[in-house]
Amino acid sequence: DSLQRSDLVLFGVLGDLSRRKLIPALFQLDRSGLLHQESKIIGVAREELSASQFEERVKDTLQTFVSNDELVDDVLARFCKRFHYVEMDFSQDEAYQALKASTSDEVDRVFYLATPPSLYATICAGLSRQSLIHDSTRVILEKPIGHNLASSQTINQAVAQYFQESQIYRIDHYLGKETVLNLLALRFANALFASNWDNSAIDHIQITAAEKVGVEGRWSYYDDAGQLRDMVQNHLLQVLSLIAMEPPSRLDAESIREEKLKVLKALRPIDTSNCKDVSVRGQYQGGFIGEQKVPGYLQEEGARENSDTETFVALKVNIDNWRWSGVPFYLRTGKRMPEKRSEVVITFKKQPHNIFSDTTADLQPNKLVIRLQPDEGVEVQMLNKIPGLGKQMHLKATTLDLSFDETFEKKRIADAYERLMLEAMQGNQYLFVHRDEVEYAWRWVDGILAAWEQNEQPPKPYHAGTWGPVSAVSLLAHDGRQWDE
Ligand code: BG6
Repeated sequence: DSLQRSDLVLFGVLGDLSRRKLIPALFQLDRSGLLHQESKIIGVAREELSASQFEERVKDTLQTFVSNDELVDDVLARFCKRFHYVEMDFSQDEAYQALKASTSDEVDRVFYLATPPSLYATICAGLSRQSLIHDSTRVILEKPIGHNLASSQTINQAVAQYFQESQIYRIDHYLGKETVLNLLALRFANALFASNWDNSAIDHIQITAAEKVGVEGRWSYYDDAGQLRDMVQNHLLQVLSLIAMEPPSRLDAESIREEKLKVLKALRPIDTSNCKDVSVRGQYQGGFIGEQKVPGYLQEEGARENSDTETFVALKVNIDNWRWSGVPFYLRTGKRMPEKRSEVVITFKKQPHNIFSDTTADLQPNKLVIRLQPDEGVEVQMLNKIPGLGKQMHLKATTLDLSFDETFEKKRIADAYERLMLEAMQGNQYLFVHRDEVEYAWRWVDGILAAWEQNEQPPKPYHAGTWGPVSAVSLLAHDGRQWDE
């Protein structure tokens, strides 16, 4: 078959990410016949577990995160057979010998480091000492790649001692989402959009990533990061780059990453001079999500009093290049919003002259709404004539709504991690983030963080279950615009 055989070694196999995302995703790949028959998966962690105890854990994970009808017996048996456990103290040299014994030199090895980044250097050094790294070996790195530019450079530098850039697969799971990938199809397969994708046709663009959940029992990690580092530095900037980049000449890693990087380099800096006008920070207080009463950020389990970490960010971003001059990108993302919704809304310019002014004072501009999740789909809002006789034309705002679920006959939408692990195991790097992208994104984000600090800009409170502080509304109102609801 055309599938490449590779062994996947999963460091941190007992951690939360592995449990919630990686193990279920690997199972789904196996179920879909996308793992080479002989590919092994080797889970690595410190805990002492027998083979049968490990198998129990895997089964328990799958029962929790995979639906019953998908948990087919023979696939489960096949999956457990290829999934082995190696107990390892990452800092001990001998431990890597045991690992070496469990994988074959004949096969490409893919190391997935689902561990804190502080362990990356130790693990890479251990792998290297046991000659586990060859030209065809790949390493997958989870976020966060650093806390700022300096620490991201330290991490990247450490890994670069052992792996070439072409062997390093940095995850941003948004790049694995079906609808985020579809941005490429929409833009570059449709002349309708391709020729209207600039400041001559577009008024402004909004990118929203809202979540209902709060910090979900990981207060101390989150408190150290905040929403700007946790969501904007990576996911939102990746989505923005895909929307704003020039057409790549090919659908390959180098061409796409080059174009994304140019966008990141063209982001107008946000500093003390403009920060107050273009950025809003918020922190949730207690409130209601639907009927459910939820605590404020400072009342969450494990919370420290007086933290001024932001759980909401709204930004007005300008891209200083030819295509986007004068077109603001408004970004917002927050925890404890009224609903889970990630979407991109592209608002086109108004018509220059209104010949329907007898009946319609204001011609609403066209909008293209790309629903990234949930309820994946694409919507075009436009004005149509209401059928009827008479000289006067009455118009109505209407929507062409393409729901993925209906259009693609309930085709299953794979989790982002399924796609990303498949691509990494097959050696395709185009959905992974280049070192330069990570570092340019940090450079820009560091500027905002420094400006917040120098301006002493504390987060504004908002009630859980609302769309953030009022100043997020003013951010757009100031420009005569409003968030798409
Ligand atoms: C992660 C963040 O990267 O993305 C989380 O660390 C956030 O805080 C998550 O909840 C959101 O991902 P998704 O796919 O649910 O939008």
